Amino acid sequence: MTQCRIAIYPGSFDPVTSGHYDIIVRASRLFEKLIVAVAPNPSKQPLFTAEERVAILQEVCASLPNVQVECFEGLLVDFAVKCGAQVIVKGLRAVSDFDYELQMALTNKRLCPQVETIFMMTSSEYVFLSSSMVKEIARLGGSVQGLVPKAVEPYLYRKLEQPVPNKETNRG
Ligand code: COA
Repeated sequence: MTQCRIAIYPGSFDPVTSGHYDIIVRASRLFEKLIVAVAPNPSKQPLFTAEERVAILQEVCASLPNVQVECFEGLLVDFAVKCGAQVIVKGLRAVSDFDYELQMALTNKRLCPQVETIFMMTSSEYVFLSSSMVKEIARLGGSVQGLVPKAVEPYLYRKLEQPVPNKETNRG
């Protein structure tokens, strides 16, 4: 049996959320090395540059010794092969993610049959979360505490030129 040693977790991570981080921690326990791969994704208007997203992720993942953060352009499968990764890890939040993720997984399989996609269920407390939602809350002056790793908060408010809200801003 072939051992899967290197996996790649791709995304736009604009910015990394607690839901992403949850997947990163859990996937890092399954593989010898996990490469978190920041993609430009031309269909989205990012808030952070690719370099900023890499720097934020590096800070967030600093305590995870087998996690490496990289940036790539071009096809994900080409980057996976270049890195020696045998597995692509994707997080699934809800049934609504499934059609799109299935399409991507089958396309990647067609392009590169030796690279497998595996899906991990996002932990229930983050099922509702997305990077866009986090940006909207921060832009409108709400607190994103708990929705993003602690290190992300100052980057977010600084970029949006918003003051860091006090915790009482949000109800619940
Ligand atoms: N917790 C919280 N949010 C999550 C999440 C989780 N576990 N998993 C995904 N999300 C959110 C993301 O924040 C993102 O939110 P946003 O739309 O508000 O930014 C959304 O779900 C989509 O995330 P994801 O499915 O990872 O897509 P992406 O746009 O971040 O990245 C790529 C897509 C980069 C992986 C894909 O476009 C790609 O592989 N590109 C390379 C080019 C290529 O090879 N193309 C052919 C592929 S078929």
